[in-house]
Amino acid sequence: MHMTIERYALGPMANFIYLLVPSLGDRLAVVDPAWDPAFLLARAAELGRPITDILLTHHHADHSNGVEALLAAHPARVHAQRNELPQLRGRAWAQDLVLHDHGDVIDLGADATVQLLHTPGHTPGSQCLLCGDVLLTGDTLFIDGCGRCDLPGGDAEAMYRSLHDILGKLDGHVRVLPGHDYGPQPEATLDDQKKTNPYMGFQTNRDFFDYRMRPRG
Ligand SMILES: [Fe+2]
Repeated sequence: MHMTIERYALGPMANFIYLLVPSLGDRLAVVDPAWDPAFLLARAAELGRPITDILLTHHHADHSNGVEALLAAHPARVHAQRNELPQLRGRAWAQDLVLHDHGDVIDLGADATVQLLHTPGHTPGSQCLLCGDVLLTGDTLFIDGCGRCDLPGGDAEAMYRSLHDILGKLDGHVRVLPGHDYGPQPEATLDDQKKTNPYMGFQTNRDFFDYRMRPRG
Protein backbone atom coordinates (compact mmCIF):
# COMPACT_ATOMS: atom_id res chain seq x y z
CA MET A 1 0.00 0.00 0.00
CA HIS A 2 1.68 3.15 -1.19
CA MET A 3 0.06 5.66 1.09
CA THR A 4 1.08 7.73 4.10
CA ILE A 5 -1.50 8.21 6.83
CA GLU A 6 -1.19 11.39 8.89
CA ARG A 7 -2.98 11.64 12.23
CA TYR A 8 -4.01 14.91 13.87
CA ALA A 9 -5.73 15.38 17.24
CA LEU A 10 -8.10 18.31 16.77
CA GLY A 11 -10.93 19.96 18.67
CA PRO A 12 -12.37 19.71 22.18
CA MET A 13 -13.57 16.09 21.98
CA ALA A 14 -10.22 14.32 21.44
CA ASN A 15 -11.03 13.57 17.80
CA PHE A 16 -8.43 12.07 15.51
CA ILE A 17 -8.61 13.38 11.94
CA TYR A 18 -6.60 11.49 9.33
CA LEU A 19 -5.10 12.47 6.00
CA LEU A 20 -4.53 9.73 3.41
CA VAL A 21 -1.66 10.74 1.17
CA PRO A 22 -0.91 8.40 -1.76
CA SER A 23 2.81 8.38 -2.41
CA LEU A 24 2.30 9.20 -6.09
CA GLY A 25 -0.24 11.29 -7.93
CA ASP A 26 -2.12 14.31 -6.68
CA ARG A 27 -5.02 12.82 -4.74
CA LEU A 28 -5.52 13.66 -1.09
CA ALA A 29 -8.23 12.28 1.19
CA VAL A 30 -9.36 13.54 4.58
CA VAL A 31 -11.14 11.21 6.98
CA ASP A 32 -13.75 12.81 9.28
CA PRO A 33 -12.78 16.46 8.79
CA ALA A 34 -13.84 18.43 11.85
CA TRP A 35 -13.02 21.27 14.23
CA ASP A 36 -10.11 22.92 12.46
CA PRO A 37 -10.64 23.02 8.69
CA ALA A 38 -8.13 25.89 8.42
CA PHE A 39 -5.43 23.57 9.70
CA LEU A 40 -6.46 20.83 7.27
CA LEU A 41 -6.49 23.27 4.36
CA ALA A 42 -3.05 24.56 5.34
CA ARG A 43 -1.70 21.03 5.50
CA ALA A 44 -3.13 20.26 2.04
CA ALA A 45 -1.41 23.39 0.74
CA GLU A 46 1.88 22.24 2.31
CA LEU A 47 1.48 18.91 0.57
CA GLY A 48 0.75 20.74 -2.66
CA ARG A 49 -2.39 18.75 -3.39
CA PRO A 50 -6.08 19.50 -3.65
CA ILE A 51 -8.37 17.63 -1.27
CA THR A 52 -10.06 15.25 -3.71
CA ASP A 53 -11.93 12.94 -1.34
CA ILE A 54 -13.59 13.27 2.05
CA LEU A 55 -14.35 10.00 3.80
CA LEU A 56 -16.85 9.89 6.66
CA THR A 57 -16.90 7.06 9.19
CA HIS A 58 -20.33 8.29 10.30
CA HIS A 59 -22.46 11.42 10.32
CA HIS A 60 -21.90 12.84 13.82
CA ALA A 61 -20.95 16.51 13.88
CA ASP A 62 -17.67 15.97 15.71
CA HIS A 63 -16.56 13.95 12.67
CA SER A 64 -18.00 16.16 9.95
CA ASN A 65 -18.29 19.80 11.05
CA GLY A 66 -15.37 20.73 8.82
CA VAL A 67 -16.75 19.28 5.59
CA GLU A 68 -18.45 22.47 4.42
CA ALA A 69 -15.31 24.57 4.84
CA LEU A 70 -13.16 22.07 2.96
CA LEU A 71 -15.67 21.91 0.10
CA ALA A 72 -15.67 25.70 -0.13
CA ALA A 73 -11.99 25.42 -1.10
CA HIS A 74 -11.86 22.06 -2.90
CA PRO A 75 -14.59 20.33 -4.96
CA ALA A 76 -14.11 16.96 -3.28
CA ARG A 77 -16.31 13.89 -3.34
CA VAL A 78 -17.80 13.08 0.08
CA HIS A 79 -17.96 9.34 0.69
CA ALA A 80 -20.39 7.90 3.24
CA GLN A 81 -22.12 4.62 3.94
CA ARG A 82 -25.58 4.37 2.40
CA ASN A 83 -27.40 3.88 5.70
CA GLU A 84 -26.13 7.24 6.94
CA LEU A 85 -28.10 9.13 4.26
CA PRO A 86 -31.15 9.99 6.40
CA GLN A 87 -28.85 11.89 8.78
CA LEU A 88 -26.86 13.55 6.00
CA ARG A 89 -29.67 14.53 3.66
CA GLY A 90 -30.09 17.93 5.27
CA ARG A 91 -26.45 18.99 5.05
CA ALA A 92 -25.59 21.81 2.68
CA TRP A 93 -23.21 19.47 0.85
CA ALA A 94 -25.59 16.52 0.45
CA GLN A 95 -25.35 16.84 -3.34
CA ASP A 96 -21.64 16.01 -3.12
CA LEU A 97 -22.28 12.66 -1.42
CA VAL A 98 -21.16 9.36 -2.91
CA LEU A 99 -23.01 6.58 -1.10
CA HIS A 100 -21.31 3.24 -0.52
CA ASP A 101 -22.04 -0.35 0.41
CA HIS A 102 -20.06 -2.89 2.41
CA GLY A 103 -17.00 -4.00 0.47
CA ASP A 104 -16.76 -0.99 -1.82
CA VAL A 105 -13.24 0.11 -2.68
CA ILE A 106 -12.24 3.73 -3.14
CA ASP A 107 -9.28 4.00 -5.51
CA LEU A 108 -7.04 6.94 -4.66
CA GLY A 109 -4.68 6.10 -7.51
CA ALA A 110 -1.03 5.11 -7.35
CA ASP A 111 -1.87 1.71 -5.84
CA ALA A 112 -3.60 3.34 -2.87
CA THR A 113 -7.02 1.92 -2.10
CA VAL A 114 -9.48 2.10 0.77
CA GLN A 115 -11.89 -0.76 1.39
CA LEU A 116 -15.10 0.18 3.18
CA LEU A 117 -16.50 -2.12 5.85
CA HIS A 118 -20.06 -1.46 7.02
CA THR A 119 -19.95 -1.72 10.81
CA PRO A 120 -23.27 -0.53 12.24
CA GLY A 121 -23.79 -0.17 15.97
CA HIS A 122 -22.73 3.37 16.89
CA THR A 123 -24.91 4.61 14.02
CA PRO A 124 -26.74 2.66 11.27
CA GLY A 125 -24.25 3.69 8.61
CA SER A 126 -20.99 3.59 10.56
CA GLN A 127 -18.13 2.22 8.50
CA CYS A 128 -14.48 1.34 9.03
CA LEU A 129 -11.85 2.08 6.39
CA LEU A 130 -9.25 -0.57 5.59
CA CYS A 131 -6.09 0.85 4.01
CA GLY A 132 -3.71 -2.07 3.58
CA ASP A 133 -2.90 -3.18 7.11
CA VAL A 134 -4.37 -0.07 8.74
CA LEU A 135 -7.99 0.15 9.87
CA LEU A 136 -9.58 3.52 10.56
CA THR A 137 -12.39 2.65 12.94
CA GLY A 138 -14.21 5.93 13.59
CA ASP A 139 -16.46 5.50 16.62
CA THR A 140 -16.89 1.75 16.11
CA LEU A 141 -13.73 0.64 17.91
CA PHE A 142 -11.57 2.70 20.23
CA ILE A 143 -8.34 1.56 21.86
CA ASP A 144 -9.69 -0.44 24.79
CA GLY A 145 -13.22 0.85 24.15
CA CYS A 146 -16.01 1.05 21.61
CA GLY A 147 -18.58 3.59 20.51
CA ARG A 148 -21.75 4.31 22.42
CA CYS A 149 -24.84 2.43 21.34
CA ASP A 150 -27.39 4.43 23.32
CA LEU A 151 -27.54 7.46 21.03
CA PRO A 152 -30.21 7.79 18.29
CA GLY A 153 -29.64 5.03 15.72
CA GLY A 154 -27.39 3.12 18.09
CA ASP A 155 -27.76 -0.66 18.20
CA ALA A 156 -25.70 -2.74 20.63
CA GLU A 157 -26.62 -6.03 18.94
CA ALA A 158 -25.40 -4.69 15.60
CA MET A 159 -22.23 -3.44 17.31
CA TYR A 160 -21.51 -6.92 18.64
CA ARG A 161 -21.82 -8.36 15.13
CA SER A 162 -19.60 -5.60 13.72
CA LEU A 163 -16.87 -6.19 16.30
CA HIS A 164 -17.14 -9.98 16.47
CA ASP A 165 -18.04 -10.98 12.92
CA ILE A 166 -16.34 -8.26 10.85
CA LEU A 167 -13.43 -6.62 12.70
CA GLY A 168 -12.68 -9.77 14.71
CA LYS A 169 -12.17 -11.72 11.49
CA LEU A 170 -9.54 -9.39 10.06
CA ASP A 171 -5.85 -10.20 10.28
CA GLY A 172 -4.57 -9.68 13.81
CA HIS A 173 -1.67 -7.58 12.63
CA VAL A 174 -4.00 -4.88 11.36
CA ARG A 175 -3.36 -1.57 13.13
CA VAL A 176 -6.43 0.09 14.63
CA LEU A 177 -6.54 3.88 14.25
CA PRO A 178 -9.65 5.12 16.06
CA GLY A 179 -11.74 8.26 15.69
CA HIS A 180 -11.02 9.51 19.21
CA ASP A 181 -7.99 9.51 21.49
CA TYR A 182 -9.77 7.72 24.31
CA GLY A 183 -7.27 4.95 25.03
CA PRO A 184 -3.92 4.57 26.78
CA GLN A 185 -2.18 4.99 23.41
CA PRO A 186 -3.30 6.34 20.03
CA GLU A 187 -3.26 2.99 18.21
CA ALA A 188 -2.86 -0.75 18.70
CA THR A 189 -3.11 -3.93 16.65
CA LEU A 190 -6.29 -5.99 16.48
CA ASP A 191 -4.44 -8.83 18.22
CA ASP A 192 -3.61 -6.46 21.09
CA GLN A 193 -7.21 -5.26 21.21
CA LYS A 194 -8.48 -8.84 21.45
CA LYS A 195 -6.39 -9.09 24.62
CA THR A 196 -7.03 -5.73 26.28
CA ASN A 197 -10.30 -4.35 24.90
CA PRO A 198 -13.20 -5.68 26.98
CA TYR A 199 -15.62 -5.09 24.11
CA MET A 200 -13.69 -7.50 21.88
CA GLY A 201 -13.85 -10.35 24.38
CA PHE A 202 -17.52 -11.30 24.48
CA GLN A 203 -18.64 -14.56 22.91
CA THR A 204 -22.38 -13.92 22.96
CA ASN A 205 -24.47 -11.01 21.83
CA ARG A 206 -26.37 -11.03 25.15
CA ASP A 207 -23.23 -10.68 27.26
CA PHE A 208 -21.98 -7.88 25.04
CA PHE A 209 -25.34 -6.13 25.14
CA ASP A 210 -25.53 -6.23 28.94
CA TYR A 211 -22.01 -4.78 29.30
CA ARG A 212 -22.31 -2.13 26.57
CA MET A 213 -25.71 -0.94 27.83
CA ARG A 214 -24.80 -1.05 31.54
CA PRO A 215 -25.77 2.12 33.44
CA ARG A 216 -23.11 4.75 32.96
CA GLY A 217 -21.67 6.19 36.15
FE1 LIG B 1 -19.98 9.43 16.88
